[in-house]
Amino acid sequence: MCGPPPTTTSTATAAPEQPPITPQLGDLAPDFIAETSDGEIRFHEWLGESWGVLFSHPADFTPVCTTELGAVARLRDQFAARDTKVAAVSVDTAESHRAWSPDIAETQGAEVNFPLIADPDRRVATLYGMIHPRHDNTATVRSVFVIGPDKTIKLTLTYPASTGRHFGEILRVLDSLQLTAAHQLATPADWQPGQDVIITPGVSQEEAARRFPDHRVIKPYLRLTPQPARP
Ligand code: BEZ
Repeated sequence: MCGPPPTTTSTATAAPEQPPITPQLGDLAPDFIAETSDGEIRFHEWLGESWGVLFSHPADFTPVCTTELGAVARLRDQFAARDTKVAAVSVDTAESHRAWSPDIAETQGAEVNFPLIADPDRRVATLYGMIHPRHDNTATVRSVFVIGPDKTIKLTLTYPASTGRHFGEILRVLDSLQLTAAHQLATPADWQPGQDVIITPGVSQEEAARRFPDHRVIKPYLRLTPQPARP
């Protein structure tokens, strides 16, 4: 045989790893059926006409997650005032969620009062792109999805495992989203409830004068008005 001996070095390159597919703003929130700490959930049916917050945590019986679930439990009345249902998800089992819940009540001053979705086969995590393999190959990151009554995604947030989220910020976003939905209003940087809000550019000046009689025109594109009362 002529020529060089066959080489064992392969020139084929491995297919590049695909990034996780995370639903984007405006997408339909994926529906699913799953076990939870409180029994089976059919996600869209459970949401009904309400707003929803679906958030993932990396693992049960971990310190940051314990404080986060306690923080959400303490905000129950705040979420209810915004007609918003909350559910948490991790790759743990429903049994694990139930075993962990008394620790949250004991250490965080509130009983867990929302469903903890069990996702040991990562079906929900995959639908929502909650596993970021180069951050953690097996556990969910700290994702947040706010879902509107039309079941579309209104907000996405992703935090690393080491940073507990500020759930007051989620309430603030809900307030902003609900102002947009009800009144075509937007909220400026660092806005807090009770402060002036922005009339969106799609509202004509004639309509602004009619609907928001107390508004101020700073620039033709920057119009402020007092925050209307909750409908
Ligand atoms: C925690 O909840 O404390 C935690 C979970 C996973 C990785 C790092 C921190």
